Amino acid sequence: MSKPVKVALLGCGVVGSQVARLLQEQADDLAARVGAPLELAGVAVRKMSRKREVDLDPALLTTDAHALVTRPDVDIVVEVIGGIEPARALILAAMAGGKSIVSANKALLAEDGATLHAANKADLYFEAAVAGAIPLIRPLRESMAGDRVHRVLGIVNGTTNYILDKMDSTGASFTDALEEAQSLGYAEADPTADIEGFDAAAKAAILAGIAFHSRVTASDVHREGITGVSASDVASAKAMGYVIKLLAICARSDDGRSIGVRVHPAMIPRTHPLAGVREAYNAVFVEAESAGRLMFYGAGAGGAPTASAVLGDIVAVARNRIAGTRGPSESVYADLSVHPMGETVTRYHVSLDVADKPGVLATVAEMFSRHDVSIQTVRQEGRGDDAQLVLVTHRASDAALSTTVEGLRELDIVRAVASVMRVEGDETP
Ligand code: HSE
Repeated sequence: MSKPVKVALLGCGVVGSQVARLLQEQADDLAARVGAPLELAGVAVRKMSRKREVDLDPALLTTDAHALVTRPDVDIVVEVIGGIEPARALILAAMAGGKSIVSANKALLAEDGATLHAANKADLYFEAAVAGAIPLIRPLRESMAGDRVHRVLGIVNGTTNYILDKMDSTGASFTDALEEAQSLGYAEADPTADIEGFDAAAKAAILAGIAFHSRVTASDVHREGITGVSASDVASAKAMGYVIKLLAICARSDDGRSIGVRVHPAMIPRTHPLAGVREAYNAVFVEAESAGRLMFYGAGAGGAPTASAVLGDIVAVARNRIAGTRGPSESVYADLSVHPMGETVTRYHVSLDVADKPGVLATVAEMFSRHDVSIQTVRQEGRGDDAQLVLVTHRASDAALSTTVEGLRELDIVRAVASVMRVEGDETP
């Protein structure tokens, strides 16, 4: 057996405490898998006195994270503190000393992954940054390295999936479902990062970069959250055999020259595999040229599930160090540009509050036709002053749909555009 591989842990919160626990409890198995013991060299924390979910030798704790990551005997630095700084500075300092890095930091990787990749001298692994326990980075980066990915379509935020699932199964309003998610600990007191789609957008940027060998940052991602999804949108989707999910979608354009990266609520058919992803679970659907359709499903958050992904990375980078090698690094040879949302082509569900009288449907249809948006189905709900027209389009560009909706808003016969939602996962032309 080789000499111990020393691991410095930055952060001992929900995930860090589980990483430390597993390193200690599974020490023998991990040593056998790596070919050397994995030894916890130190744990950097903000406060020494805080109660933690793991029994740690107090001598391991330090508040001087910089000193820990630059210690000559440390081989691997595990960063689970999150946020941009001081995480970035600590990782860069560790890289300068030739350490291998394991990070769960989606915000940093999505905002400034390029700086980290450029400074990396050993390994930079980050399986836990996207969808917790679910293996995605390594399957995309390694298992699918021989294939051509066309699209990645996923539910990568558990909080919003829980809220939308509650709205769908109980008819609850967004506000009530959010309150329940907060009371159960799924949603944070300030739920902005989840419900406004920031968390999912960071994950989408990371997935798109790897799937399409291109550089994508969080600011490239078109982002819409779920705060505008109403109980009546959910009911309308249900009536048509659809369910509303917050999706992260990374896809090649039809001509293959650019990619679209977006996060927004969308209707998907109840028969689609992603429709069965309930509560706070995550799932990612990958469509590739030769492999066809693959789905990855599991717990996208939580201490132990996320620690499982972190531990897998620690084992991988420890093996590489012992073998004197490195794992795969950033691959941005394609460097496809991210096209504006207006160029995204998909289908739309549009609900209009209208007066139920002759000529209304014809006027509405003419507006769609004027902007070259083809209607697939039309349904009327209600009568008289309470009538609603529900239209589903064929594939059209987001720009054409937006212009159509602006035109509809100006028509006297349209009292209100009640909702506009994209329809995904149903590949009718
Ligand atoms: N808040 C995230 C979620 C987990 O609800 O899925 C961390 O990315």
